Amino acid sequence: MLPVRLDRTRPEPLPAQLAAAVRGLVTDGTLSTGDRLPSSRALAADLHVARAVVEQAYDQLLAEAWVETRRGSGTFVASGEVLPVAPAAPRPATRTQRYVRLDAGTPWIDPRHLPGWRRAWREVSVARAPRGYPDALGLPELREALAERLARTRGLSVEPDEILVTAGTTDGLRQLLGVLGTGDVLVEDPGYRAAVETVRAVGRGVVDHPAVAPVTDLTGCVAAYVTPAHQHPLGRVMPAADRLSLLGAARAADAVVLEDDYDSEFRYDVAPVPALAALDRSRVAYLGTAAKSVGPGLRLGWLVAPPELHDRLLRRRVVTHDTPPWPTQRALLTLLRDGWVDRVVRTARRVYASRAPRVAAALGPHAELAGPLAGMYSTWLTRPDAARAARDAARAAGFDLPVLADYCRTARLSGLVVGFGGVTDAELDHALSVLAGSLGRHLGGR
Ligand SMILES: Cc1ncc(COP(=O)(O)O)c(C=O)c1O
Repeated sequence: MLPVRLDRTRPEPLPAQLAAAVRGLVTDGTLSTGDRLPSSRALAADLHVARAVVEQAYDQLLAEAWVETRRGSGTFVASGEVLPVAPAAPRPATRTQRYVRLDAGTPWIDPRHLPGWRRAWREVSVARAPRGYPDALGLPELREALAERLARTRGLSVEPDEILVTAGTTDGLRQLLGVLGTGDVLVEDPGYRAAVETVRAVGRGVVDHPAVAPVTDLTGCVAAYVTPAHQHPLGRVMPAADRLSLLGAARAADAVVLEDDYDSEFRYDVAPVPALAALDRSRVAYLGTAAKSVGPGLRLGWLVAPPELHDRLLRRRVVTHDTPPWPTQRALLTLLRDGWVDRVVRTARRVYASRAPRVAAALGPHAELAGPLAGMYSTWLTRPDAARAARDAARAAGFDLPVLADYCRTARLSGLVVGFGGVTDAELDHALSVLAGSLGRHLGGR
């Protein structure tokens, strides 16, 4: 049911109150495009009002294009790219504007895989829950499946007991930061914003390091956070010499390398770049995530830490019990066992392999590609004014995307970061024509 309260003591009629409440749920993101609203009968019963109240509210929302009806199946939040602005909106206008996001982090999950997803959750519903807290490292069967997958896809040979199931990369990072000694953390610049915020949030200093320069000195740092397989957001692969330099600096400073391996499986034409952790397990803590292969909303990941850190993490977890919820872990187990994750990765890779060249064809004449084409986004270097103008043009057309400067702290790079996983082909083509048009007008051809 909807988290809505109607107040009979207010002068505003009940249908208007209900319509306003539903608009609010859409604009604050509680309800998303395609979500189904309860039937008028069920909602009326839940709110203890006459059915006509709900019908009038729905009619109003329909007239304003906030919702749409599908014959025989109900009322849904409308799928318009830009939802209408609420009349006399009580919230700031920016919160009511909804964009199609060309987000670097959103993967393509083919809707044809939906039955497999449902099957996994059905299995959860009949599985027997652990009687006490779940295993502190994570479900043993899940860790077995992850060990098999890490060996097969990342060249990482680990025992299930060396894996710690996390609630995603940032959770794994936070856990690691909690057991490391004192010291700052080197982070690539430009780099992953969630990592920067996570390091700062635990009160550690962030040392900005140019993302494309080798790390040669980690004095004063307890760790270095890097994305070697696909530098986020420039996209470059860390060269072998830079990998050795980083490991050498870590050994010399007794620091640990935190390897964020977020999307390495999405190389189109070549095998994934091997994990840095495969070179030196004693120096590298490996962070994997289900965000790209299953979806960011699952909030699951895995962490393989050097033995001493692993023991500290485990000792703490036995006390804190801050494992990811058992049902989510159980669902991922089914998705891995059924081959669902492999299938999703395969289809998504094909989609990215077809979309990346389209992005390159549209933007290549106007901007410079920052790294090899891989994954679900590409980054394009151009002048700051041109990048900002292109983003503004995209917004005016109902799309949102980051500019490269959003990821820079002291680095002075500018351009656009174009995600192509979370959109349809038609949306991507529309957005690209807007971006290319704006860049062309601004730069007058290169
Ligand atoms: C660089 C990078 N690392 C990790 C992640 C995934 O983080 P999490 O597992 O916390 O969702 C993302 C998602 O966008 C990312 O861009």
